[in-house]
Amino acid sequence: MFAPPRVWWKPLNRLERSWLIMAFVWCLFLTAMMPLWLFLGRQNVPATSYRVAPATFQEIVTEFAQTHQVGTEKGVPVVAPSPGDVYLLARQWQWYPILQLKKGETYRLHVSSLDIQHGFSLQPLNLNFQVLPGYVHVITLTPTQSGEFSIVCNEYCDLGHHLMVGKLIVTE
Ligand code: CUA
Repeated sequence: MFAPPRVWWKPLNRLERSWLIMAFVWCLFLTAMMPLWLFLGRQNVPATSYRVAPATFQEIVTEFAQTHQVGTEKGVPVVAPSPGDVYLLARQWQWYPILQLKKGETYRLHVSSLDIQHGFSLQPLNLNFQVLPGYVHVITLTPTQSGEFSIVCNEYCDLGHHLMVGKLIVTE
């Protein structure tokens, strides 16, 4: 007693073939968009990076904060630098310092971490960057609206992660 061999393959039905071709072309399109959108997408903020020892970065930021400090908020210096290079460091569980920038001026924001990975998320604009120890990301930005913005850490960084909220002030 033998069962007849199962027929597992049949030539493609015309509709089935059309759907497969459409799905395949769509896959190719989406795959191409991944690299293309890096250049075409206007949501990408110009950013470069370089290596730095965390201790060196801490020294640079401390000196930068002392030079341009205009106030203090909850123990964190409020710093109003002139346009150009500005610095922000992340550590468990703080963004340091509070930057006060001018609307319409262009800044190169150097961001790095002193300990582990953090996530820079500017709210409510939803601008997001990874912040890593040993590397500085330089983000070129020109604020287009004034007000106070929160910098939320969106990368889990241990116990105080949910407390890690900083501030960025943009004045007219
Ligand atoms: Cu820093 Cu989460």
